Amino acid sequence: MKVNNALIYFFGALGGLLFGYDTGVISGAILYIKKSLGLTSLTEGIVVSSILVGAMIGAAISGRLSDKYGRRKNVMVAAAIFCIGAIGTALAPSTGVLILFRIVLGIAVGCASALVPLYLSEMAPANIRGALSSLNQLMIVTGILIAYIINYIFAPIEGWRWMLGLAFVPGIILLIGMLFLPESPRWLLKQNREQEARNILQHLRKGIGVEKEIADIKKTNAEENGGWKMLKQKWVRPALIVGVGLAVFQQIIGCNTVIYYAPTTITKVGLGDSAALLGTIGIGIINVIVTIFAIWLMDKLGRKKLLLIGSIGMAVCLFALGLLTKFGGHSSATGYITLACLAVYIVFFAATWGPVVWVMIGEIFPLNVRGLGIGISGVANWGANLLVSLTFPSLLDRFGNMLFVVYGVMGILAFFFVTLYVTETKGRSLEQIEIDLRNKDQQLGTEQANQTAI
Ligand code: BGC
Repeated sequence: MKVNNALIYFFGALGGLLFGYDTGVISGAILYIKKSLGLTSLTEGIVVSSILVGAMIGAAISGRLSDKYGRRKNVMVAAAIFCIGAIGTALAPSTGVLILFRIVLGIAVGCASALVPLYLSEMAPANIRGALSSLNQLMIVTGILIAYIINYIFAPIEGWRWMLGLAFVPGIILLIGMLFLPESPRWLLKQNREQEARNILQHLRKGIGVEKEIADIKKTNAEENGGWKMLKQKWVRPALIVGVGLAVFQQIIGCNTVIYYAPTTITKVGLGDSAALLGTIGIGIINVIVTIFAIWLMDKLGRKKLLLIGSIGMAVCLFALGLLTKFGGHSSATGYITLACLAVYIVFFAATWGPVVWVMIGEIFPLNVRGLGIGISGVANWGANLLVSLTFPSLLDRFGNMLFVVYGVMGILAFFFVTLYVTETKGRSLEQIEIDLRNKDQQLGTEQANQTAI
């Protein structure tokens, strides 16, 4: 059955919605889980962060498996795990079982975080690859917003089991949708299944430029075998540095201290609970609207410029947040300015580092190690997320909002990292990006040889 292109990209990105929902829902659900299962502050922390541990495992295994068994099959397995995790957490009779299923759910989240950018970047044509790959981030932030709204709806009945269980619905839709989606033509060519790859590309590109694309893919494919050995080679190393670097910086500039903990930050400086809750939904809405704008920007301004603008913009907001507490005192005016800083921070994040990081991680690795490279970057992203989320509450207690100055400094470091290491990928085909990576290494080798000769 031939599926419409728009549907291919929609279902290809849908895993992002589950990623967003499952990471976002806990902020509201935890209030009632705490009461219902009698959590201590230790078990509360474990319930919240166990999904991140699972996500590290998921990202680690999915890359390798998708290089071996294909992108599509692995998304289907992830979708099935999403469904099992949703039901398991919703029905959990005890804290132990809940934590176990949060880890299971995390495995699916980690898989989705690596597989969706991979699948989208391999299906999309070069000139709009940025926009199509950003659909992943749009789904993530939509998932977070839906979670905030579901939390709000079920709060009066303290229905945490509903909040967690409803993730089953998009899970099953994803599973059914993927049954009808084609496999990535790039992966098929790697398996020497040329005719199948040709048919899919004919359909995706409406017959335009297909033979050239196949020839280009085959050329990069023939170079060498994948695996760890290739990933450690000198010419691939710059891609690994950029993948892991972007993944880590995205987290240590504090995005999830805002997404997961906005209400805590706002109430700390003087606003009441309901203002904090509404503020959080507002932040969720801004996140979605600005991401739509970013999709449009991605193939126009380019990824590198966006990253540079974003790191400075976010750093300024973080410094303002920190200094406000020092000089602003505890009042509702300070509360509202804090809310404004958080909102502007999210505008910068959603327009830049939110979508760009996952788009670039999907683009920079050579075909033969693409799954593996994305998987490693994913592990780094979830590991850094875990570190920040676990340490933020206690650091905030100790240092107050001055803590944001530290994340601001990370923003400045991120700026230098991007300036030094990141190369623009806008408008180039994945094969061209791979060839340029190889040529750059050869160029460097020749320059070094010349220098020693002199
Ligand atoms: C990040 C997540 C974050 C989400 C929120 C994603 O790109 O990887 O950690 O929660 O954006 O917008």
